[in-house]
Amino acid sequence: MSESTIESVLHEERVFNPPSEFSSYAHIKSLDEYEQLYEKAKADPVAFWAELAEQELEWFQKWDTVLDWNDPPFAKWFVGGKINICYNCLDRHLTTWRRNKAALIWEGEPGDTRTLTYAQLHREVCQFANAMKQLGVKKGDRVGIYMPMIPEAAIAMLACARIGAVHGVVFGGFSAEALKERLGDAEATLVITADGGFRKDKVVALKEQVDLALANNACPSVQNVLVVQRTKEPVTMVEGRDHWWHDLQKQVSDDCPAEPMDSEDMLFILYTSGSTGKPKGVVHTTAGYNLYTHMTTKWIFDLKDTDVYWCTADVGWITGHSYIVYGPLSNGATTLMYEGVPRPSNPGCFWDIIEKYKVNIFYTAPTAIRAFIKMGEELPNARNLSSLRLLGTVGEPINPEAWIWYHRVIGNEKCPIVDTWWQTETGGIMITPLPGATPTKPGSATRPFPGILAEVVDLDGTPVPANEGGYLVIKHPWPSMMRTVYKNPERFRNTYWEHIAPKDGEYIYFAGDGSRQDEDGYFWVMGRVDDVINVAGHRLGTMEVESALVSHPSVAEAAVVGKPDDLKGEEIYAFVTLEGDYVASDALLKELQAHVVKEIGAIARPGEIRFTDVLPKTRSGKIMRRLLRSLAAGQEIVGDTSTLEDRSVLDKLRSGS
Ligand code: WTA
Repeated sequence: MSESTIESVLHEERVFNPPSEFSSYAHIKSLDEYEQLYEKAKADPVAFWAELAEQELEWFQKWDTVLDWNDPPFAKWFVGGKINICYNCLDRHLTTWRRNKAALIWEGEPGDTRTLTYAQLHREVCQFANAMKQLGVKKGDRVGIYMPMIPEAAIAMLACARIGAVHGVVFGGFSAEALKERLGDAEATLVITADGGFRKDKVVALKEQVDLALANNACPSVQNVLVVQRTKEPVTMVEGRDHWWHDLQKQVSDDCPAEPMDSEDMLFILYTSGSTGKPKGVVHTTAGYNLYTHMTTKWIFDLKDTDVYWCTADVGWITGHSYIVYGPLSNGATTLMYEGVPRPSNPGCFWDIIEKYKVNIFYTAPTAIRAFIKMGEELPNARNLSSLRLLGTVGEPINPEAWIWYHRVIGNEKCPIVDTWWQTETGGIMITPLPGATPTKPGSATRPFPGILAEVVDLDGTPVPANEGGYLVIKHPWPSMMRTVYKNPERFRNTYWEHIAPKDGEYIYFAGDGSRQDEDGYFWVMGRVDDVINVAGHRLGTMEVESALVSHPSVAEAAVVGKPDDLKGEEIYAFVTLEGDYVASDALLKELQAHVVKEIGAIARPGEIRFTDVLPKTRSGKIMRRLLRSLAAGQEIVGDTSTLEDRSVLDKLRSGS
């Protein structure tokens, strides 16, 4: 976010009340009702969640203990309970009229379409689960999913959940290298992929990337690869290892009972960027995640059985897990899935889809909204968007101008907007308006979801006064919180639980975001306070990009910072010093960009690379990123520079050498 945006966020004073018509039909109808729920949950979070778990989910066996917090920061929810999230997403709807309701409406980028009713989706999931069983997959095994946005991506996730296999979805835009690292860490035994997918009018050859990731026995745990046919482009099939889904489908039955899982059995691992070079395997478990994504979807998106709900995320990210697949299906909703993204040949595709399927609820990212603003109002104005009744955003702070545009042009000034703050680690939405209840202020995620004790504090854990910046923290465990970093509990402890050290030994979750709360208690999230940057809503670690750069023979040292960008929020800006034999050139710059794409994926391509002789460091050798951030942003360097080892470095960098 640029300074000017932060300024306008600070001075935003417009307030939008929920339209009364919307409130009268909403699940949560008034601010009073929200506040009562909030106070009830705060007074006794355990009783609050237990009541909802009983009402809203089906259990094979009830729990003994709602919350076990005896070994913080390792929480256990609904201990002793037996449940299956796939059962809650599918089977339980089959005994109701929803059996023949559309569960999943899908549109491919080339315009092909598919609709699966709950009964049909259930059948496909059961078959897929049996195919995995036939390949030897057992409860607890890890399964890598590297897919385009096709129904089989959701089917594969649900099938894993059904038999108790742990899925690890890897975003299809990640490179073979990144895939290899994640499959290796998870020790996956099976990889589910497709021959390819369509993205921006090109074929993305996913199977080829899987072959590269597995080459030279680089992931020895992987025994089988299950390939869905999507593009029909030729692929190499390795005898004994690779299997076509359409071949296996002919052999398997559609009878596959859902495995009764312990509440705390692992449901999935999802890798996300942190402040070290290695991505973290965020672990989520079964019951608490099911309950929390169910409740947040129901109340925040105010789902009704007649709604068509569309979240534009990719299933490779947490938003796709929680709010395309699990949350909506657990509620028996109709969830829409689109393979494509706006592209030069079809910049208005989102509005076409809203018109075509009469979408009622639309959830997207601020970066997309800013891109739409650039493309002009003519595109959405040319379509009938009157079916929309609720809009949402996620992934980064939304600047008030983008919020107002979204409200006016897309929402026709009648749709509430839910600006939802949360993270891969939190599993579900944490700070958000409830659309029929909460007056909204453009740029603010407003107030915590009932049961979430969010605060803005200093490093001692003391709340800061209203309107002063501090660290965003959560004070009480919540059902969908991440349970650990896969195979690395120490990293879980020191990344999230040791930054804030309250005097009374309380355990406080440190989110890594800076925020303030205004006089109404509204949260204004400012962005990351660690070495994580947010590029077009995608989260990247600066160290990850740095490791990729220094793995190139020409690079001696690299320092990566985020540079404010009007469209993407932040752009990757890399400062690079070269090994003696190399000279800076345009060709080398392009080679380094391509190298990062190969190591991580296109989302990590540095927008700018600046070759320099020196990097500003402290006397202890730490790179002073704060200074580099100012330089990248073209701002004056303010603040203390006294710890800089060599003050002349700044002059050199300013003068461009
Ligand atoms: C940022 C995405 C401001 C934040 C669900 C967080 C936001 C990171 C918002 C998590 C929002 C997400 N307002 N910032 N509404 N939503 N963020 O793990 O910095 O990909 O820590 O999860 O995105 O990104 P992640």
